[in-house]
Parts: sequence; C-alpha cells; structure tokens
Amino acid sequence: MRRPAILRAIGAGSLVCVACLGLLAGCGGNGSPGPSGGAKGGKPDAGPIVMGFSQIGSESDWRAANTVSIKAEAERRGIDLRFADAQQKQENQIRALRSFIAQKVDVIAFSPVVETGWEPVLREIKKAGIPVILTDRAVDVTDKSLYVTFIGSDFVEEGRRAAKWFVENTTGDVKVFELRGTPGASCAIDRKQGFEEVIKSHPRIQILHSQDGNFERGRGKEVMEAFLKTPKGKEFNALYAHNDDMALGAIQAMKEAGLKPGADIKVVSVDAVKAAFEAMIAGELNCTVECNPLIGPQLFDMVEAIAKRPYVVEAIRSQRLGIEEGVYDQSAAKKLIGSRKY
Ligand code: AHR
Repeated sequence: MRRPAILRAIGAGSLVCVACLGLLAGCGGNGSPGPSGGAKGGKPDAGPIVMGFSQIGSESDWRAANTVSIKAEAERRGIDLRFADAQQKQENQIRALRSFIAQKVDVIAFSPVVETGWEPVLREIKKAGIPVILTDRAVDVTDKSLYVTFIGSDFVEEGRRAAKWFVENTTGDVKVFELRGTPGASCAIDRKQGFEEVIKSHPRIQILHSQDGNFERGRGKEVMEAFLKTPKGKEFNALYAHNDDMALGAIQAMKEAGLKPGADIKVVSVDAVKAAFEAMIAGELNCTVECNPLIGPQLFDMVEAIAKRPYVVEAIRSQRLGIEEGVYDQSAAKKLIGSRKY
C-alpha cells in the first residue's frame, strides 16, 4: 500500500502530519473532550475502537480501491468498522450517519456524495459528542467545528493539472467536451473550476460542451454516444473527463463510432487507475491526473489519535490533510503500470 511520505496541509495554511498527532497522543495532557465534537473520554484500553464509515457507493474503480483500503486497514488494526454503502444517495448517507449515532460509535468518517445539505445531521453528531472525519470529498458548511478534519486530494489542483496537459501538449484550437462527475459533488465542482482557471489565459482552448456522467463508465459511454450524434459531436477534438471510468466508457463509444481516441480526440482524465494505464499503453488515453484513493492508513492514524487522546480533536480542528499525487502520460504508462496498486 502506497503511503505518502509527506502529508501536506492544504488550504488551512499550516502543516499537520500524523507523526505530529502521534506525539500529541503520547505527550500526556488531561485527555478531556474538546468543547464540541470530541470523543467522550478516550479509550486506550476499553476494547476496540468503533468507527462508522459511510461510503458513497461503488461507482468507479477509484471507489472500489478506496473501500478496500479502508476495510483492509481497519482489519489490520483491529478496529470495529461499521461500513455502510450509500449507493450514491445522500439520503442513504444521512440515514447511516444517524444509525452511527444510535450505535454510539467512537468516531464517524464519511465521504459526502454532494457538498451541501449536511449541517443538520452534523449538528446531531456534534451534540452526541462524536468526532467526524471527512474523507475524499468536502462539505460546504459555515460552522467548521462540525468536523475535525478533512483527508483528501486537492481537486482544484487536479483540474489545473488536466488543463495544463492540453496547454503543453497541443497546438491550435482545442474544442473540449467536458464529462463532469456527480452534480453537486465537491470533486466535480473543483475539477471544473481548476480546469477553467487555467484555460482562461489560453483562449485557443475552449469548453465546447459540458455534461454530467455521474463518475460511471456506463454513463460515460451513453453520454458520449448521444453527444456524437449532435452537431458539436462532429466538431470537438478533445475530451476532459472528471474521472477515468467515464473517460474509458467514452473511449469505447468513440471507437465504436470509428474515431481514434488518443489521436483524433485527445483524452485527459483524473484518478490514474490501472485501466487508465492500459488505455494509455493502447494509445487511447493521453494523460491521467492522479487522485490517490489509498487513504486507509492515513485515516486510521487519525482515528486512533482521536479515539485514544480526544484533546487531539481541538489540536487539529479544521485542518485539511492532503496527499502527494502525480500526473502520468503515455510515455510513463508502460514503465509504471506494474507498480500501480489500484
Ligand atoms: O471523489 C473522488 C472521485 O469519486 C473519483 O475521482 C471518482 O472516480 C470517484 O467516483
């Protein structure tokens, strides 16, 4: 399992690392819960830590790898993991979070399917004194004390990196079809924002058409099939997909329509799953921007620090923990595919 050497605190401006949390956890202190959202008491010797985790679903290879990482790490550390799959529905996630409150778990973690609408249930969790860790996707709440920390990628930067590939590797007019992720998801919003930010100063690169594909391979294929029948479908020469799965579905549709993705149509996507490396080796995908799903070790370092020494909650309140990630193109694909873990 790849484990980033350095954890960068993004956005919050200061540096936090799990080693620091280890120090905090071991340096004494009164172990008292913080004023809000802190674990009750701490449980160094009181049986296994119980963590409720609400996963978004199983929409992509990325998500499958993320789930495996979390489950495997929980098992390795003897954590009692209560895992719920929300099947891409916010109402299912909210129901799962309420059931974690009823089960009196020690810590709750979840990847929010969309950004908004979390404030009421987060308040209920805070009232119950259970600390919350956000993973992968962010929430849009005014009261930042409703969660302890966020562990995940910088999606705006991913969008920028995708756009930079087009800037540096194309000439002439680039007419992009953008396949967006789940509507309202922080990664869909941010990846669009980062991409647009970069192309703004390169007017030869324009988004010709933009549509949702829900991060699913099948949906990516359907959307591309329909798009190819429209007048703009005859005009575009580039695809920017918010994840590899949608790109792979769209590549399939383009091939069936007699196009040559990777050559006629330049294709860039996000995640860097193994199947994307295979598509790059086949010359059908030009570049994938990494979004690392293997956050299990980082998540449970945090969970253990919080559950054993609840004062850690206040020490790290509202920090954001980032992950080191790369950008891969066809020239790197053959060499690296053997070492990819997801
Ligand atoms: O939130 C991360 C995104 O969600 C990944 O890019 C995508 O593949 C997944 O489904």
